[in-house]
Amino acid sequence: MKTSLDYIELEDKHGAHNYHPLPVVLSRGEGVFVWDVEGKKYYDFLSAYSAVNQGHCHPKIVSALKNQADILTLTSRAFYNDTLGEYEKYITEYFGFDKVLPMNTGAEAVETALKICRKWSYQKKGIAPEKAKIIVCDGNFHGRTTTIISFSNDPDARNEFGPYTPGFINIPYNDLEALEKALNDPDVAGFMVEPIQGEAGVFVPEEGYLKSSYNLCQKAGVLFIADEVQTGIARTGKLLAVDHEHVKPDILILGKAISGGVFPVSAVLADDEVMMCIRPGEHGSTFGGNPLANKVAIAALDVIRDEKLAENAERLGNILRVELSAIKHDMITIVRGKGLLNAIVIKPKNGKEAWDVCLRLRDNGLLAKPTHGDIIRFAPPLVINEKQLMDCISIIKKTILSF
Ligand SMILES: Cc1ncc(COP(=O)(O)O)c(C=O)c1O
Repeated sequence: MKTSLDYIELEDKHGAHNYHPLPVVLSRGEGVFVWDVEGKKYYDFLSAYSAVNQGHCHPKIVSALKNQADILTLTSRAFYNDTLGEYEKYITEYFGFDKVLPMNTGAEAVETALKICRKWSYQKKGIAPEKAKIIVCDGNFHGRTTTIISFSNDPDARNEFGPYTPGFINIPYNDLEALEKALNDPDVAGFMVEPIQGEAGVFVPEEGYLKSSYNLCQKAGVLFIADEVQTGIARTGKLLAVDHEHVKPDILILGKAISGGVFPVSAVLADDEVMMCIRPGEHGSTFGGNPLANKVAIAALDVIRDEKLAENAERLGNILRVELSAIKHDMITIVRGKGLLNAIVIKPKNGKEAWDVCLRLRDNGLLAKPTHGDIIRFAPPLVINEKQLMDCISIIKKTILSF
């Protein structure tokens, strides 16, 4: 029988080394739990970077996938199919927009949003050809394509991948003055922002930042683009993180949990004034809007609503932060987050860092992964119940106190 080490060696030998996974090899998942190839059970405290909000292998979502797989999987958009319209009606009503443009991955949806924004700016705002600019924030993470990494300031994501796509203005995150100043440029078409910077380490902006940013964009005639790939779909305790401040973005970007982690599905939502700037042939994707994705996404969004996962994330997130803050240990310097998107900042002790904490958490039955060296994200599936959460908190406490 193959061991974890065999699987790790196999990946190491034949796969590109573009990741540095925690050494654990998973073979099964159910709800908040995953099991490794040796049969050890763990709490999943990462949820595939917030894609598995509905829990692993949710029966309703998996059954939607299986049912559709026997009927029709892919037509491309060269033809109509009998699931896309149903899904488009469902998701636009669910989020309150006129139109959706379906894609597959988060990065593709971000690219789509940027293209729509530029189109809109030439057609509706009258910006001269090739002059449109989009404001983005330092510390952003919007994906891995060449254009997206062009405005990243993470050297790992960016270095040696140039030349870079022009047309972006970087400003500090959570800085309204900087935004106001950047918006003075008449060639600015959009402002793209993560309502909480997840990948950067769960940076929650000051209350009112999103609403005020939105108002500044409105005043300047600039599109407010919310990248909710990680924060969306109930993760932060509301359906969308912008809902905390009652903001309706001009363009909304969704991915990850829109399929419950069952299938790559992403989406861009906007009203007609913006979305109808794209005409046939100008943008698309072979797999975007495929029947499997359509059925899976409907089921996954049903689960969010039926199981009241936003409410659960809000309630349990509050408990989690209170309990984590109560752990008195010099390695935990900061606890922050919203809903069930949280992080702790680790101060190294006796040469032990966040990575060592994650290894020991793993040994104690909980999986989490450091980001940027010293931050550990805690983002369990939103189907977690209070008893399970308390169990996880005691694992975290025991682990930290062991250092
Ligand atoms: C805010 C945000 N946008 C976009 C992406 C990219 O999504 P994907 O990895 O599906 O391309 C991510 C991924 O973590 C993300 O967190």
